[in-house]
Amino acid sequence: MSNQSVHTPVLQVNNIFAGYHPDLPIVQGASAYVNKGEFVTIIGPNGAGKSTFIKAIAGVVNITSGEVLVNGKNITNIETHNMASAAIAYVPQTANVFTSLTIDENLRLGASDLPKAEAAHQIAKAYADFPDLMKHKNSKAGVLSGGQRQMLAVARALLTSPDLLILDEPSAGLSPLMVNDVFTRLQKLVASGVTILMVEQNVKAALAIGDRTYVLADGKNRIDGKSADLAANEEVTAIYLGKGGRKS
Ligand SMILES: Nc1ncnc2c1ncn2[C@@H]1O[C@H](COP(=O)(O)OP(=O)(O)O)[C@@H](O)[C@H]1O
Ligand SMILES: [Mg+2]
Repeated sequence: MSNQSVHTPVLQVNNIFAGYHPDLPIVQGASAYVNKGEFVTIIGPNGAGKSTFIKAIAGVVNITSGEVLVNGKNITNIETHNMASAAIAYVPQTANVFTSLTIDENLRLGASDLPKAEAAHQIAKAYADFPDLMKHKNSKAGVLSGGQRQMLAVARALLTSPDLLILDEPSAGLSPLMVNDVFTRLQKLVASGVTILMVEQNVKAALAIGDRTYVLADGKNRIDGKSADLAANEEVTAIYLGKGGRKS
């Protein structure tokens, strides 16, 4: 063995099989890793199993084989209530905030397992990071715009200071302007030290924003690499952007 320093990825997913029915695996031997401070994106055709893959990481769908490690610790099939202590947070694509509660109530609920002083500190930090939420503090989450709602979901997920934030298409259904706003916020979070794994259906955006990108197809790894390299990869551009690369 060399004495080269070994660094453990924040997330390591090794050859997992997972799905909604034991006889019908949707994810069929997929792997990925995320290093500390990285912004990693996952792309792939509709129905490729992207959502199922990250749901499996978050313990929302059952893993029948393979393993998920967070900071080197095996968390395969983690129970939802153990996610915060395992230092991961998962924001599903929809139904990720309580629409009948105010922004403040959503945040207080999200921080309810923290010691009181820590909860207050984290909520103040959320408002500082997301000034829009502060402005609408006492509005019901249901009246927020799509982008604001995604930001609330992200802010809530960050309250427990997770080492890894897992996001499923936070840009879905948003106007281009809002997508831009959401992505700018996420980039700021990464710059401040948050590590992100994000599914994104807009290939161009995913390759532009990511440090590295995984392409999943049929529940398996298809291609992966530095996002910038994939943006120039002929196979990727042929499949997803049209030959020669489509403009948008
Ligand atoms: N709740 C569910 N129950 C059963 N099958 C599902 C469920 N959600 C998704 N699937 C199936 O799993 C496959 C992959 O879906 P999904 O992971 O959502 O793909 P993607 O996010 O890449 O579009 C699809 O064939 C889909 O029909
Ligand atoms: Mg999906």
